[in-house]
Amino acid sequence: MKFTTAFSLSLSLAPAVLSQTGVSNDRMVFGNVLNSWTKLSSGWDLTRGNKTNAITLPIPKNGPIMIQPNKTALVIIDMQNFFLHESLGGNPLGRDVVPTTVNMIHAFRNAGMPVLWTNWGLTENDLINMPPALINGFTTDGTSVTSFGSDMGSIVVPKSDPSIPMTDKIQGGNQTIAVGRKLMRGSWNAQPWGALLNEQLQGVANGTDLYFNKNRLSGMWGPGTPMQTWLEDNSMTTLFFGGVNIDQCVWGTLVDSYYKGYDVILVDDIAATTSPIGATQMVDFNAQVFGWRANSTDILDAVKKAARRR
Ligand SMILES: *[C@@H]1O[C@H](CO)[C@@H](O)[C@H](O)[C@H]1NC(C)=O
Ligand SMILES: *[C@@H]1O[C@H](CO)[C@@H](O)[C@H](O)[C@H]1NC(C)=O
Ligand SMILES: *[C@@H]1O[C@H](CO)[C@@H](O)[C@H](O)[C@H]1NC(C)=O
Ligand SMILES: *[C@@H]1O[C@H](CO)[C@@H](O)[C@H](O)[C@H]1NC(C)=O
Ligand SMILES: *[C@@H]1O[C@H](CO)[C@@H](O)[C@H](O)[C@H]1NC(C)=O
Repeated sequence: MKFTTAFSLSLSLAPAVLSQTGVSNDRMVFGNVLNSWTKLSSGWDLTRGNKTNAITLPIPKNGPIMIQPNKTALVIIDMQNFFLHESLGGNPLGRDVVPTTVNMIHAFRNAGMPVLWTNWGLTENDLINMPPALINGFTTDGTSVTSFGSDMGSIVVPKSDPSIPMTDKIQGGNQTIAVGRKLMRGSWNAQPWGALLNEQLQGVANGTDLYFNKNRLSGMWGPGTPMQTWLEDNSMTTLFFGGVNIDQCVWGTLVDSYYKGYDVILVDDIAATTSPIGATQMVDFNAQVFGWRANSTDILDAVKKAARRR
């Protein structure tokens, strides 16, 4: 009975570090050597023991939190033409948070923390496996033929910036854009909106950012997604979230990340929705139960200070 011997030996060698439930005996440690938080006299230490270059962020509720920049990322969800562009009936509240989102992206990059973009980017195979409820959720005219993968026709936009709609104020010639097939990978409608397109392209080219396609509202659903694989491969623990819609794709991705053991922080002022106010209230309430909730204005100073220290 080799197995039994080894088992009792390991228990007798390490009685002090194991409680009856197999987690730490330290009442301020939540979890074990594989994944834990430490409760501080004020706030939480989320560094899992590596305090090199740690950043302490003031958070209005249950803060501050101490994070390890080597294990922390900013996740930007669905800031795509399909959801935001004026000519496609996109969300004006989502467009309003773009400048703040760009500030956060720059601050995270400068502090050495990766920016992860996860967007709808469907393949033919995704279309075959799409459940009826989702097909119904994305129809334009109540029939299945205008849902995912359907040709969205063309729109006229200023040549100077294909991401912005034609208005009287905008100078320059017009350009006809093929909007592409709805939310398909590589289509114009699936590209990031406005200034975010260049942010994403340059960030990915520079290696500070990463891009992950998704095929559901959540970028972390099921047994695994491209983003989850990257998070695991890079030992990430702590995720900040922004994007649209706060109560749908942002919430779906946040809540799946929480179920899978990541620390989740909702950044209120880089997220938006057109849903009734109660939807945002539900998300705000539960985000601070599952993790934390802050505005970029609460944490930007500390992130920028950390960037200057590097
Ligand atoms: C601890 O964090 C530092 C800086 O963030 C990083 O360079 C180092 O590799 C980390 N050490 C371990 C053991 O993860
Ligand atoms: C974390 O640190 C390790 C070792 O220094 C490095 O290889 C890795 O790229 C770092 N990850 C991030 C996100 O900075
Ligand atoms: C561009 O399109 C707008 C809106 O359709 C139109 O008012 C304007 O005259 C067009 N400009 C040019 C240079 O064709
Ligand atoms: C990419 O790197 C270049 C050269 O270091 C820098 O000038 C530019 O600002 C960077 N762009 C982004 C989006 O990080
Ligand atoms: C962020 O700012 C908005 C607008 O001032 C406010 O309604 C919201 O409660 C703030 N969120 C947090 C977490 O403080």
